[in-house]
Amino acid sequence: MADGWEWDDTLFKGTAAHYTRGRIPYAPAFAETLATALDLDGRSRLLDVGCGPGIVTLAMAPFVGEAIGMDPDLDMLAEAGRQAGRRGVTNVRWEASRAEDLPGDLGAFRAVVFAQSFHWTDRDLVAAAVRRMLTPGGAFVQIGNLPSPAVAPYEEIGELVRRYLGPVRRAGQGRLVNGTPGREDLVLARAGFADVERHVVPAGEVVARTADDLVAWAFSRSDSAPHLFGDRLADFEQDLRALLRGRVFAERLPATEIRIWRPDIRWSGDRPI
Ligand SMILES: C[S@@+](CC[C@H](N)C(=O)[O-])C[C@H]1O[C@@H](n2cnc3c(N)ncnc32)[C@H](O)[C@@H]1O
Repeated sequence: MADGWEWDDTLFKGTAAHYTRGRIPYAPAFAETLATALDLDGRSRLLDVGCGPGIVTLAMAPFVGEAIGMDPDLDMLAEAGRQAGRRGVTNVRWEASRAEDLPGDLGAFRAVVFAQSFHWTDRDLVAAAVRRMLTPGGAFVQIGNLPSPAVAPYEEIGELVRRYLGPVRRAGQGRLVNGTPGREDLVLARAGFADVERHVVPAGEVVARTADDLVAWAFSRSDSAPHLFGDRLADFEQDLRALLRGRVFAERLPATEIRIWRPDIRWSGDRPI
């Protein structure tokens, strides 16, 4: 990663308990949209890399024969396993690994999905490995929400976090001076993927976000993960709740963007032809 930042296993430490409540959900129809776009069926296998608490893995499970959620954070996987048990989903399994360990012995997939996780990986290495793991017709998939107008005071929450943790974005044991990297189009082109197919899945529903939801949002993020506050965690939470003053914020749910990258057929093996 740029700026000498190095991944370590505290990146999302302590966030799992807050994740599902705190994060803005994906548009409900995203799973069906992806299943249709990739022509998934009961024989398809799907790998969700950086699956967190399994939100995407579990949403995709009804459309495939087997879904595997992979994440290095054991608390995230434990939460994913609990959710699968609660919903009676049996065609999923959980793999405690980093994307950099791919391909491992996981086999081949019709879809390898990264939902808000590719930017945390050694992208060139991972994209090249994924390309070799795809079955014919398979794809590298990215999922994320599009920006939507902020109603809750996210700026003020950010200022409070900076007052506690300093001006430079924290990430695990390190600091990210310039944030996480972009231009994954260039990374994927280098790995032999062709033009992206883009789907925007509308949401639009307005939901009430309480102070508890916004506290969970802060603690679900790598840059304000609970462990970063050390023995000032309770003070931070108290100040955050004072800032939110028990208000409820009516937030319009954003659209979800799906980007599908297929192997470039002009490539052969690891080299362009
Ligand atoms: C922002 S969360 C996204 C969770 C989930 N994909 C979702 O969209 O709900 C990022 C996840 O990526 C995982 N992660 C971070 N670095 C990773 C890596 N190098 N390999 C695999 N997963 C990683 C984190 O542990 C975390 O669970």
